[in-house]
Amino acid sequence: MKLSKRVSQIKPSPTLAITAKANELKAKGINIISFGAGEPDFDTPDFVKEAAVKALYEGKTKYTPSAGIPELREAIAQKYQKRNNINYKPSEIVVSTGAKMALYEIFAAILDPDDEVIVPAPYWVSYPAQIELCEGKPVYCELSEENGFVLTVDILKKAITEKTKALVLNTPSNPTGAVIPENELKKIGEFCVENHILIISDECYEEFSYGEPHVSIASLSEEIKKITFTVSAFSKSYSMTGWRLGWVAAPEEYVKPIINIQSQTISNPTSFAQYGGIAAIQDEGKFPAMMKKEFQKRRDYIVDRLNSIEGINCNKPEGAFYVFPNIKSFIKGDIKNDIEFASYLLEEAQVAVVPGSAFGKEGYMRLSYATSLENIKEGLNRIEQALRKLF
Ligand SMILES: Cc1ncc(COP(=O)(O)O)c(C=O)c1O
Repeated sequence: MKLSKRVSQIKPSPTLAITAKANELKAKGINIISFGAGEPDFDTPDFVKEAAVKALYEGKTKYTPSAGIPELREAIAQKYQKRNNINYKPSEIVVSTGAKMALYEIFAAILDPDDEVIVPAPYWVSYPAQIELCEGKPVYCELSEENGFVLTVDILKKAITEKTKALVLNTPSNPTGAVIPENELKKIGEFCVENHILIISDECYEEFSYGEPHVSIASLSEEIKKITFTVSAFSKSYSMTGWRLGWVAAPEEYVKPIINIQSQTISNPTSFAQYGGIAAIQDEGKFPAMMKKEFQKRRDYIVDRLNSIEGINCNKPEGAFYVFPNIKSFIKGDIKNDIEFASYLLEEAQVAVVPGSAFGKEGYMRLSYATSLENIKEGLNRIEQALRKLF
């Protein structure tokens, strides 16, 4: 049977693949230290679980409105007012099954064949795949290590053409942890307003910003808000990756088609999970603040340790829970690229990392520090020993 052209190009997510490979080796009894995880190592807080269990026992087990239950849309709108300084109405919120689905629905709603979407590279793995599934064309603009992997309006300007439909922003970023400062965000937003470019602002890591508090681009002006899809989720902030709960906030004209897509595809996000989401929102950021404190300690440790290893250079990122060090000096002899470098670490040191090329940037590796400090120390001891053999 012949499959569609659309689907023939799609590959499994490389980050999920590396985690699966590490888990497979662990299951065989091999002691793997994994820096692959894209999820906090904390459990979902009890108050969230209890709210979902209560909902289950109260019989909240049926279909809900496609856009999500009104109480949750209202709670998300209030969060934006109180914590992000944006005035979204509940009717401008759609709850979805994670930020991933929310992003896919946005691309499905805005893209015609060959419309271009600017994706700053390194990028989160699913943006190009989702854009291509919706028959759009990802256009990459290269971010540099020297510039801390921060997107600037000058870099953006070089990538636009008359076919540019949208820009994907991800601050704090996966995989680099980079945060775009407010003044630069404003310039990017104003440029997109002037050039009629939609902004898809993926703010999944909004709770994990170690320097200045997180800034949502839609909060910077009414004009910018009018062209922006603000995407976020409970997944990282409340350690709820398996609950599949996220959302999009955008003007009603953009939200309506997304609700229609949702009503014809997933019907609605899981009913009782949404009640857990209300409890999480009502916590007003206290739980993620606790995680952030721990992540910050780990970030400081991991960056110092990586930089102390000969041949590695690592920026100190301002957000998320990833570091993205340069490992180009090890790409020589038998190690021809960063994929082989990651394989070497897995075989020689039993340490799992994700090669930079998975994120569109050859010569780097991504390490997630959403794992205990003890694991981080042991993992870095192993990396250091294995790399010494290469020098
Ligand atoms: C930048 C970014 N956006 C979106 C997602 C997907 O989030 P969710 O689990 O809520 O679908 C992830 C998860 O790794 C991510 O890193």
